[in-house]
Amino acid sequence: MKRADGAAPPAGSVDFDTVISRKGTSSLKWDKYRGTDVIPMWVADMDFPAPPAVREELKKRVEHGIFGYTVAPEDLIETVVATVDTEYSWRIEPEWIVWLPGLVSGLNVFCRAFGSPGCDVMSPIPVYPPILSAPKYSGKSLQEVPLLHDGLRYTLDFDGISRAVTDRTKMFILCNPHNPTGRAFTETELQQLCEICLRHDIILCSDEIHCGLVLDQDKKHICAAGLGPEIARRSVTLMSPSKTYNLPGLGCSFAVIPDAGLRKDFVRAKAGIVPEVTVMGYYGALAAYGRSSRWHAALIEYLRDNRDLVERQVASMEGLNMSHVEATYLAWIDARGLSSDPSSFFEKAGVGLSEGRYFGSEGFVRLNFGCPRSLLWEALERMEDACARQ
Ligand SMILES: Cc1ncc(COP(=O)(O)O)c(C=O)c1O
Repeated sequence: MKRADGAAPPAGSVDFDTVISRKGTSSLKWDKYRGTDVIPMWVADMDFPAPPAVREELKKRVEHGIFGYTVAPEDLIETVVATVDTEYSWRIEPEWIVWLPGLVSGLNVFCRAFGSPGCDVMSPIPVYPPILSAPKYSGKSLQEVPLLHDGLRYTLDFDGISRAVTDRTKMFILCNPHNPTGRAFTETELQQLCEICLRHDIILCSDEIHCGLVLDQDKKHICAAGLGPEIARRSVTLMSPSKTYNLPGLGCSFAVIPDAGLRKDFVRAKAGIVPEVTVMGYYGALAAYGRSSRWHAALIEYLRDNRDLVERQVASMEGLNMSHVEATYLAWIDARGLSSDPSSFFEKAGVGLSEGRYFGSEGFVRLNFGCPRSLLWEALERMEDACARQ
């Protein structure tokens, strides 16, 4: 394999190429392989520093020195409303926003807030593991409907979904853009899904944490709840700056719930259990949404090149297949052509990937390409050598 990255300038004038050590920072991603030579490419955070505006804002908070209980800054609320409108053409009202310290909390609060004990929550699989576990934590059952693969890409199986709906199916959790397959669902697909939900009076939870990470230039993120007032009234949309601006350790997310009744039930279900967002979370989010657009544009360019590299190299590896990644920095790799368990196979070769079975699909692995290109090259070379040797 020949490297072609040497002369490439960094995307825009933002430097994503420098490798910054995360060793000794209690990083979940890196500490898993502490003391080994394994390159961690599993959990979904990026090995890039947050945008300069975020770091400056946090420095200001540190200088101020008082870290008391904090409410959402008014300009953050205005910024979120404006961002959802300009980026996704969905007009939301400030009072529809419910702040959360994490999106996984939002998924679990959703499962607690609605339906009755023993009812079913449907979701397409494979999917982000906490979506698989949230229904049972709330005494509900998960109804899995596998995504279809049409030879090119993963799609929602509308016939399968319609057939699987029963009178116990009260809720649906969608992940869009989709972790782990990287699909950014089209308006037509989302409309079809919303129609099914409305026909059967199913409340839709749309996890849109990856909405700022659409990589294809001819695609854009579409908020399911923005497709019309009927679905808006039966929906909970979960968003956060944490993936796009690489702030997962700051813990700031929010739910958008247009219907006052659903919102009341959601707020009641989280009362006394889910803590408030911290001062750093709120102000990091403010600087991310409000003052980091140039950084964001450069990131997308850089990730697009990383994505192209991964797709090209994986296509040349014996036993592996992957579909085009439209959005996210995650590649979902079909490794069923390998002779052994793929995640331990690649771990032995020095690359730490996420195991497909946690997402509901044995024989697959997920590779996080949100890292400097040199690190990605090193990992891909190790994978290629291992595949060639097996
Ligand atoms: C689809 C999806 N939802 C939620 C999360 C996690 O959200 P949080 O860290 O805010 O709980 C992730 C993280 O990878 C994710 O991919």
